[in-house]
Amino acid sequence: MTNIAVFASGTGSNAVNLVKSFNSGNRIHVALCLTDREDIPVIEKMRELGVETIYFPRSVWKENPQAILDVLKSHDIKVIALAGFLSFIKEEIINEYEGRILNIHPSLLPAYGGKGMHGGNVHKAVIEAGETKSGATVHLVTNDLDAGPIVVQREVEVLPDDSPESLEAKVHEVEYLIFPEAVMKTVAAFNKQTPSESNTPTPPDIPKSVDDAWAETLGIPNNVPPIPNTAQTHFSSQPNNMSPTPAGPTSYSATASSMGQRSMALQSEQMPPTYLVWSIIMTILCCTIPGIVAIIFSAKVSSKYYEGDLDGSRRASRNAEIWIIVSFVLGVLSNTLYLPLALAGLF
Ligand code: GRF
Repeated sequence: MTNIAVFASGTGSNAVNLVKSFNSGNRIHVALCLTDREDIPVIEKMRELGVETIYFPRSVWKENPQAILDVLKSHDIKVIALAGFLSFIKEEIINEYEGRILNIHPSLLPAYGGKGMHGGNVHKAVIEAGETKSGATVHLVTNDLDAGPIVVQREVEVLPDDSPESLEAKVHEVEYLIFPEAVMKTVAAFNKQTPSESNTPTPPDIPKSVDDAWAETLGIPNNVPPIPNTAQTHFSSQPNNMSPTPAGPTSYSATASSMGQRSMALQSEQMPPTYLVWSIIMTILCCTIPGIVAIIFSAKVSSKYYEGDLDGSRRASRNAEIWIIVSFVLGVLSNTLYLPLALAGLF
C-alpha cells in the first residue's frame, strides 16, 4: 500500500475523486489532506470520507516547510497530489519529494499556465482568445510555476457557445479521469525505484489470479496484483471504509456518486487478453521456445496494465498472440516434416 496526500484550497472535487478512486483498493491510499485555508468545503468532504485533514495557515506554508514535511513523514506519504491548491510549495518540500508532487491544471500546458492562471481565469482567457481546444494537464511540480514535466494531458473541445462555466465543467470531467491515472503512474514509477516497497508480498486475503498462479507454477517472476474483478474493487464508487453518505448538502451526495462512476470509467478500459492458456498449450503441444516467449509476453500484459501503461499492455497482448501463432506454425511445420521422415524410417 502506498500512502499519498492531497493538498487542496477550495471545493475539492478532484480531492474527493482521488479518495473514491483509490481508498477502497489495496494499492494506493489517500491518507492525508492538507489545506491552506479554514472553512473551505474540501475539509468537511475529506473528513466525511474518513481522510485525516489538517489546516496549516499560509504563514506555515511560507515560513515553516519543515512542519509540513514532518506531518508528511509521520503519515508515510510517498506521493503528493495538488488538487486545486493555491499556496506555493516551498523548495524544501519540492526537493524532498522530487518527481513525486503532481499538480492538476485546467488547460493544455504550457498554454494558459503561470502567474494568475488559475480557476475561472484560465477558462475566461481560453474563450476570449477564441481557442477551439482546451483541456487539463497533470504535471510534476518543480520550482517553476506550471512548468514541470507533463505526466498526462487530455483535450476537450471548446464550442462557440461555451461560457467559462460550461468549459470548466467539461475540463473537470477529464480531470477526474487523468488525475487518478497520473497518480497511478507516479506511484508505479516510485515503487519501481524502491524495490523493497514494490516487492511487498500480496496480502494473504487476496485471491491469486489464474495468471499469477500459472506464472508461479512456471517459475516466471511476476509481482502482478490480482486481475479483475478487482478493477471494480480497486475503483469502487462505494469504498468500504467510507463513512455513510453525509446528511449534508444533497448536491454533494449527487456529485460524489457521479464522480465515483467517472473514476470507474478509468478502469473501464478493459485489460487486453493475456492468452496465457494458449501460450502454455502451444509450449506443450507445438514449438516450445516461441511458446515460452508467448508466456513471457502474457505475464507482461497484466503487469503493464496495473502499472497504468495500457499501451504497453496492449503491445504485450499482441506480441503474445503473434508468438502463439509462430509457435503453432513452427510446430505444424516441424511435425509435418518429421512425420514423413519418421515413416520412411530415416529416424
Ligand atoms: C481544478 O480545475 C484544477 O485544475 C485547478 O483547480 C481546480 C480545482 O477544482 N488546479 P476542485 O477544487 O478539485 O473542484
